[in-house]
Amino acid sequence: MLRKKKNPSEVPVGEIPLIRHAEPYDAGGIISCMQAVMDEGVFLLGDYYLVTERMQKEMVLSRNDCTLVADKNKEIVGVLTIQRGSYRKNSHTGTLGIAIRKDFRQQGLGKKMMTAGLEWAKTSGIKKVNLEVFSTNLRAISLYKSLGFVEEGRKKCQFLINNEYVDDILMSLWFE
Ligand SMILES: CC(C)(COP(=O)(O)OP(=O)(O)OC[C@H]1O[C@@H](n2cnc3c(N)ncnc32)[C@H](O)[C@@H]1OP(=O)(O)O)[C@@H](O)C(=O)NCCC(=O)NCCS
Repeated sequence: MLRKKKNPSEVPVGEIPLIRHAEPYDAGGIISCMQAVMDEGVFLLGDYYLVTERMQKEMVLSRNDCTLVADKNKEIVGVLTIQRGSYRKNSHTGTLGIAIRKDFRQQGLGKKMMTAGLEWAKTSGIKKVNLEVFSTNLRAISLYKSLGFVEEGRKKCQFLINNEYVDDILMSLWFE
């Protein structure tokens, strides 16, 4: 399991990004990473990551949620979040989101971050992890399926992206 606290001096200078729990000082890097992926306009719903540094710091410090970062020489190149349901009736669930900068994709980083995030969820007592993904995002769907996620529902033609209607696929993973 990843340790919650990590001294910044422990970040290696090597080529492989280090996956670790985010710290408040990562807020700016997380926002830049999320906005860079949103700027591509094809994978994430929003056009703007409407989170201030202050809000991001609070999210990082939240005991209920998990924010992992992939840190390459102190640049945040990937972000994974799992937010636990905030009501008593859904607190056994977590909602997962992940975004990796373009240059760092298809190198196994997504799988590593997902594995670490799911480990956190499991050890934190979450029973079910939910996510939503565009039906056009074949790489993400393949990754989720390889980790045991199944399609639970589908909102047809929920989005219009570059003149193409796209389904919203709802996926989930139950821990035994
Ligand atoms: C989706 C994302 C998180 C995947 O991370 P990644 O680091 O690129 O993926 P990985 O290198 O870990 O590969 C994961 C799996 O996808 C498979 N894969 C890679 N490219 C693929 C493609 N073009 N089509 C289908 N499967 C593909 C790989 O085979 C791998 O499976 P394996 O390890 O069993 O062989 C990342 O690409 C990303 O952040 N994309 C932009 C934002 C995004 O789409 N976020 C998710 C929104 S729901």
